[in-house]
Amino acid sequence: MMARTIGYIVGSISSTSINRRLAKALERLAPEGTTLVEIPIKDLPFYSPDFDADYPQVARDFKQAIADVDGVIIVTPEYSRSIPGVLKNALDWAARPWGQGSFDGKPTAVIGTSGGGIATAAAQQHLKAILSHYNAPTLGQPEGYVQTLPGLITDEFEVTNEGTAAFLTAYLAAFGALIERYAPAEVAA
Ligand SMILES: Cc1cc2nc3c(=O)[nH]c(=O)nc-3n(C[C@H](O)[C@H](O)[C@H](O)COP(=O)(O)O)c2cc1C
Repeated sequence: MMARTIGYIVGSISSTSINRRLAKALERLAPEGTTLVEIPIKDLPFYSPDFDADYPQVARDFKQAIADVDGVIIVTPEYSRSIPGVLKNALDWAARPWGQGSFDGKPTAVIGTSGGGIATAAAQQHLKAILSHYNAPTLGQPEGYVQTLPGLITDEFEVTNEGTAAFLTAYLAAFGALIERYAPAEVAA
């Protein structure tokens, strides 16, 4: 199997984010040959079309980081039954300049955690609609709804519940298969 790099975007800039904790747990559970790296969003200014002619370096770096990875996992909380504004802002930077959308053809997966029973399901539906508009092939199953219960992920990012750990492992395997399906064909030397 080819070595693979998956980027992840955390849709929260909270210093105590449980979604960042989940992302770090995924990092630990990644199969051999797969590396997970964060694509940070917290330093992006508010997007405006005024920037289209000359993107600031931080936004260029953000788009380059997406271009450099084989797939992107978006790990996000739900705010008011949708995605947080900081994440939407990052997606707007990715979508532009017109014709240079970073997610066009990029395999993506979404996952999120909250203390609530529906565990970010509403936010993920909105996010999948956005990714579909970007023409990003997106993992349909399994759906990444993770309810955070006290102690689920330790400070070392270990998942304490066996069922949840097995689910996250299967989730990563399914996303790996999606990436494989959309990988550019190798050209014989
Ligand atoms: C503005 C705001 C809106 C929220 N709306 C929802 C919501 O619609 N559904 C939900 O499950 N939790 C909601 N929450 C609770 C978040 O899920 C909870 O704060 C979670 O810890 C955020 O994830 P984070 O720790 O990764 O930042 C909301 C929190 C905030 C601050």
